[in-house]
This record gives sequence, structure tokens and C-alpha cells, in this order.
Amino acid sequence: MGAFIEAIDLHKTYRVGKIDVPALRGVSFSVEKGEFVTVVGPSGSGKSTLFYLLGGLTRADSGRVIMDGDDFATLSDAERTRMRKRKIGFVFQKFNLLPTLDARSNIAIAQEISGNGDRDPAFFLRICDLLGLTKRLNHRPSELSGGEQQRVALARALVNKPAVVLADEPTGNLDTENSNIVLTMLRQSNQELGQTVLMITHNPEAAKFGDRIIHMRDGLVVKPEEDPQWSPH
Ligand SMILES: Nc1ncnc2c1ncn2[C@@H]1O[C@H](COP(=O)(O)OP(=O)(O)O)[C@@H](O)[C@H]1O
Ligand SMILES: [Mg+2]
Repeated sequence: MGAFIEAIDLHKTYRVGKIDVPALRGVSFSVEKGEFVTVVGPSGSGKSTLFYLLGGLTRADSGRVIMDGDDFATLSDAERTRMRKRKIGFVFQKFNLLPTLDARSNIAIAQEISGNGDRDPAFFLRICDLLGLTKRLNHRPSELSGGEQQRVALARALVNKPAVVLADEPTGNLDTENSNIVLTMLRQSNQELGQTVLMITHNPEAAKFGDRIIHMRDGLVVKPEEDPQWSPH
């Protein structure tokens, strides 16, 4: 079977005033359907830029992203948005919950905007139960701990059973206990639903939750031995 996600020679440079800041300098790799891949690398190595490109949140200067046979570059903005909502669950380091909505609505809103038409109430309750959120659903983000907020964000990402889950440092702001809940849930969802997961992380322990590690440095994919921060022990 072919790759489910393909990154082909991705280049992205930010322009800050008159200065060019290269973030990706030719990144290529592929991820099989159902694989759980982690991406590690020092700060500034281009991980978040890669995350935005894979999620169709920004465009590359050159190169291509192919997901489930669709080439992002050839899709219109509307098609790209539609694909993102239907196929991808996002988790961010800073949760990105809507402050005026309670936890239940923050999760349910993903079902409403996805257009999947598959609002599975039993699955909603099960996800909340597995994430220990059942008693917190009436609370707004400001009334929840950081760990609880990230668990709500994860429930939001998973509730539509997306084919792909993209996570950018999802445990970056969490204590060990909450990190473990989040990582275990990502793994379980990956295994039960055959989801393709790509998770960026700084933490070598978290990186081990995946099947395979992609190392980045200076805007490129490198071999593990070329990643000086990487210590597998
Ligand atoms: N919006 C932006 N404007 C200008 N430079 C940026 C922007 N986002 C990222 N960069 C730069 O691009 C490079 C890669 O950043 P990023 O993708 O955030 O890496 P990482 O997530 O690995 O820390 C860094 O040099 C960073 O300073
Ligand atoms: Mg980053």
C-alpha cells in the first residue's frame, strides 16, 4: 500500500522585514496509513512549520503535501478547508480552546463543523470517559487545569474519528501524569481506529510512544546520529 501522507521537497522561508528566515529547506518523507510517527528536533528546526504545511494551514513556497491521494497544492482554499475539517484532528501545545464555551461545547463544535454527519453520541461519551472529563464538561477553560484543557482539546481532535491526527508538542505544557494520559489516548486511538498520527515532541520519552522517529535539524530531516540533542537513553 502507498503512503498516506507524503511530504515532497518542502521549502518554506519566512520574510521578516528584509531578512529571509529559512524554516524548511527541502523536507521529504512519507507516512504509511495507521503509522504513529513522532518528529523530534531542536527548537527552531522547522517542526511547527512542517506541522502547518501538513495540516494545510499554510502553503509551502515549493514542494508538495499529498494526503490520502489529494495534493494540497492543487486544491482550492475551500477544498483544503473542507479536507482539513473532515480528515484531520489537530492538537496544539497551547490547547486553543474557545474561552466562552464550556468543555462539552468545545468538543461538540468539532462535530458540528466537520460536516462528517457522523455525530456518534456514544463515542463522544466514551472519549470523555477515557480522558477523565465526564465530570468537567460543564466547565469553561478558565475553570480547568492545563492538563484538563489539553484533554478537552484532545477529545475535540478525536471525536470525529479523523483519519489523521496532527499534534504539535501536545505534552509541552503538561505534567507527567497528564502527559501520560494524552500519549496513551493518542496511542489507543491510533490502534483502535487505524489512525495515522504525526506528533511533534521535544521529549524523548514521548517520542517513544510512536512507531518511528523522524529527526529534524536546521530545516531538514536528518539521521538520528546527526541530531545532537537526541539521547535515546
Ligand atoms: N511566523 C514566523 N515568522 C518568521 N519566522 C518564523 C515564523 N515562524 C517560524 N519562524 C522561524 O522559522 C524557523 C523554524 O521555526 P519553527 O517551525 O517554529 O521551528 P520549531 O517548531 O522546530 O521550533 C525558526 O528560525 C523560526 O524563528
Ligand atoms: Mg514548534
